[in-house]
Amino acid sequence: MKLSSILACSLSTCMIDLSGAVPTPFTDFTNSIIWYPAADAVSWHTLYARPLQLPDESLIITWENYPLEPPLVNHPILRSVDGGATWTNYSAINDQVNGWGMRFQPFLYTLPQQLGDFPAGTILASGVSSPSNLTGGVYIELYASVDNAQTFDFVSHIAWGAGPQRVSDGSFALWEPFLTVYENQLVCFFSDSRDPSHSQKLSYATSSDLRTWSDEVDAVVYQTYEDRPGMPTVAYIATTGRYILTYEYCGAEGCGIFYRLSTSPLTFSDAGDNIVSPAGTVPSSLGGNPYMIWTEHPDQTDGSGLLILSAGGQEEVYLNDDAAGATSWRPADVGMWSAYSRGLSIISVNGRKKLQFANGGNMGDPNDNSIATGIVEVPT
Ligand SMILES: *[C@@H]1O[C@H](CO)[C@@H](O)[C@H](O)[C@H]1NC(C)=O
Ligand SMILES: *[C@@H]1O[C@H](CO)[C@@H](O)[C@H](O)[C@H]1NC(C)=O
Repeated sequence: MKLSSILACSLSTCMIDLSGAVPTPFTDFTNSIIWYPAADAVSWHTLYARPLQLPDESLIITWENYPLEPPLVNHPILRSVDGGATWTNYSAINDQVNGWGMRFQPFLYTLPQQLGDFPAGTILASGVSSPSNLTGGVYIELYASVDNAQTFDFVSHIAWGAGPQRVSDGSFALWEPFLTVYENQLVCFFSDSRDPSHSQKLSYATSSDLRTWSDEVDAVVYQTYEDRPGMPTVAYIATTGRYILTYEYCGAEGCGIFYRLSTSPLTFSDAGDNIVSPAGTVPSSLGGNPYMIWTEHPDQTDGSGLLILSAGGQEEVYLNDDAAGATSWRPADVGMWSAYSRGLSIISVNGRKKLQFANGGNMGDPNDNSIATGIVEVPT
């Protein structure tokens, strides 16, 4: 993404993509920039965007945001009511309890069933809260909205670490929450650096009422201390009844995107490793920071589906059938820029299923980063 020639501007003065035409409402488009960071933004400016379609079929996007502080950083929310063509400032997930801000890796999720006091359809937001100096503690938080994502209230701390919130060995850090419901519990997967025996591992915690959480349970742990599996996402393959956990990891087969399959999302620690190995491709060329989803195949009526994988180092997505064979991944060019942990979502646009991208930029020149989206036919 090369956007440095575009003038940075603030939200109030820049709601449209200066680099090209605004998409026609309810049509397919790619690489539409919907928000620019302010010129004095710090660090990555923007990163790690996450999309969600609300029950009223409007679309929201949030991301890691890096304005100058104060005020405390939050996870802003833009909303589109015209199929992603235009977006306006809608709300934000603000830290209501720590005085630190909502700083890293937001995640949005619609509760599919009632849990505790929270009805089906509640909009959940997770994310990492830590002080700006990255020392003194870190929480993975749960916030909830019962008014269509207009306001979010603090629900619970999912996990706590002593900090510092850094990637170096010996940091008691927490990163990258991912939520899914399984057997009447909310399950939160995350990258966990609190275990002194491991630089990082993947853990999960569970809650049946969203207010109290289990201790962490191992999901992916390697024996070598320095190994750092990270960035978990989980999808359910309805036809085979298996769950797929996807993560980045540098293992014996090189650095790449790994996955495990299991009949329960709570038993990935017993499952074998696979590395995404498309024919003729060096697995490490996919880069890290994967995002995986499953959807029913748009052209088949037998219920079979498609796995769709976003890989940080590639613009293409990678497709696979429900068996998820390690060498049967195939690239599909959808014309969308790559992004660090590019978010994927299957949405409904006037009754038709589409694939939406949420881009927060790459870890290159922060001046190139902004929030972009695209909506395309589900690739097959
Ligand atoms: C967007 O609106 C929310 C309230 O709806 C407000 O808290 C936030 O500061 C606004 N964000 C920007 C960047 O103007
Ligand atoms: C880091 O920030 C926290 C929260 O603002 C503060 O309590 C703590 O004293 C700071 N630590 C250092 C070493 O500056």
